[in-house]
Amino acid sequence: VLPPIEYLDFAWRWYTHVRYDLASSGIAGAEPELLGEVRPDDLGSRQRFVDALGRRYGVTDDEVVPAMGTSGGLYVIYATLLERGDRVLCEAPSYEPLWRVAAANGAEIDHFSRRFEHAHHIDVDEVLAALRPKTRAVAITNPHNPTGCVLSDAELRQLAEALAARGVSLVVDEAYLELARPCSTARKLGPNVIACASATKCWGVSWARAGWVFLPPELKLAATRVERYVNGLSPPVSWAYGERAVDSADRLLARAHELQATKREMVDRFVASASDVLSWVPPHASSVFGFVRDRRGEDLLPKIEKGITELGVLVAPGCFFGEPSAFRLGWTTKAPDVNEGLTRLARALGLGEAIEPHR
Ligand SMILES: Cc1ncc(COP(=O)(O)O)c(C=O)c1O
Repeated sequence: VLPPIEYLDFAWRWYTHVRYDLASSGIAGAEPELLGEVRPDDLGSRQRFVDALGRRYGVTDDEVVPAMGTSGGLYVIYATLLERGDRVLCEAPSYEPLWRVAAANGAEIDHFSRRFEHAHHIDVDEVLAALRPKTRAVAITNPHNPTGCVLSDAELRQLAEALAARGVSLVVDEAYLELARPCSTARKLGPNVIACASATKCWGVSWARAGWVFLPPELKLAATRVERYVNGLSPPVSWAYGERAVDSADRLLARAHELQATKREMVDRFVASASDVLSWVPPHASSVFGFVRDRRGEDLLPKIEKGITELGVLVAPGCFFGEPSAFRLGWTTKAPDVNEGLTRLARALGLGEAIEPHR
């Protein structure tokens, strides 16, 4: 029996049930009509989706495997790569499925730290020191979930090269990359890089479940086989919408930036006004979330739960990312709700008079 993915259980328990949602990390959903009509039985859509991804990211056909969201992509990657007893070295703090799905596919998990003191960047020497003889892959997110830190291509290339020299793959979950750097993928930065992403987070097309894996051509056959095992025939409608989403990506990003306007300033003010208690490494300018630490050092879960049940405000507790005295704060809901949500969050966290009204 698979163990729970505790963060997702928490998220599904509360998602859409709390008035002020400062937990969600994806751009508000785009209406399907924005992408035009598609046929659910369009069997040609899979190849057209692959072609569209090739045009946007400059990857070749034999590097692409469509997947059911980034979630499905992670499953495909680990089921393709791992043998029982292999080890996966995963970043911390971490998006729980990044290591849970590896564990479910037989891996032993180790962690390395993306330290606050290093602005959550990766110390390659620390990663190399944490490799073990059976380490098959290092797994990261870029942008980093939960902190919104973005690694440069130079940093990623250096890490990929160091791992390639040791026969280790670099798995990069790029679910949030289009908001930071449109049209790019770490797959281009080294032969041992495997990347996954989807139309969900940056383009607001979560409902299509249109995701992808970019991998070395020699892994494509095995990865495609995973899809056969899990889905048989994946829904053509996902790929049909996926093709439209990729081809409409610039328009969807413009929509995303319009929806996000003014909200970051509110959040910056919130964190600054409670700076005696709260601190963060400011996430990249287009990020829709950041990871806020509480200097008091306590496990914030009870306060966060009180915020949910008594004050109607939801944030993602840091305990699910491996840091109990922090929380991931998102600003994808409507601007007035972000504003009111922050006021309520201040109350839930007992920040009292530290916080000024954010009007
Ligand atoms: C880092 C990361 N990867 C993947 C996912 C899942 O996204 P998708 O809808 O593409 O499956 C999420 C969702 O929260 C995420 O934060």
